[in-house]
Amino acid sequence: MPQDTLVAAALEARQRAYAPYSKFLVGAAIETTSGKIFVGCNVENCSYGLTICAERTAATSAVAAGQRDFKRIALALSGAGTPCGACRQFLAEFNPQLPITIVDADDPTRIVETDLETLLPGRFEFKK
Ligand code: THU
Repeated sequence: MPQDTLVAAALEARQRAYAPYSKFLVGAAIETTSGKIFVGCNVENCSYGLTICAERTAATSAVAAGQRDFKRIALALSGAGTPCGACRQFLAEFNPQLPITIVDADDPTRIVETDLETLLPGRFEFKK
């Protein structure tokens, strides 16, 4: 699928973010190896710690649909930014090399490409 399709899905999902406290809107779109797209947005709560990030809403939506093979994620936010530490670990569960495309929602021509291996070296692994 074209890169633009995933970026457009992240930008659209961002418009549905529920962020009345921070006012910082984030959208995410995950492409699975089966070619499907699952979107997410941040959902805040008046009990602030219950807030969930866009990346994790997208990931949980994919997993709930039986899709665990993540090929790529696109993230839309205002300005420059990268996934938070919790989201990095959460996504690494499904693909520790996940390519990440980050688009500036204020200027969608500004796109940064990175990946989870770069952003999360030394991830936690459950080894018995
Ligand atoms: N947020 C995300 O959705 N993803 C991240 O990777 C970092 C932060 C959200 C959480 C909160 O609703 C707002 O951005 C400000 O922290």
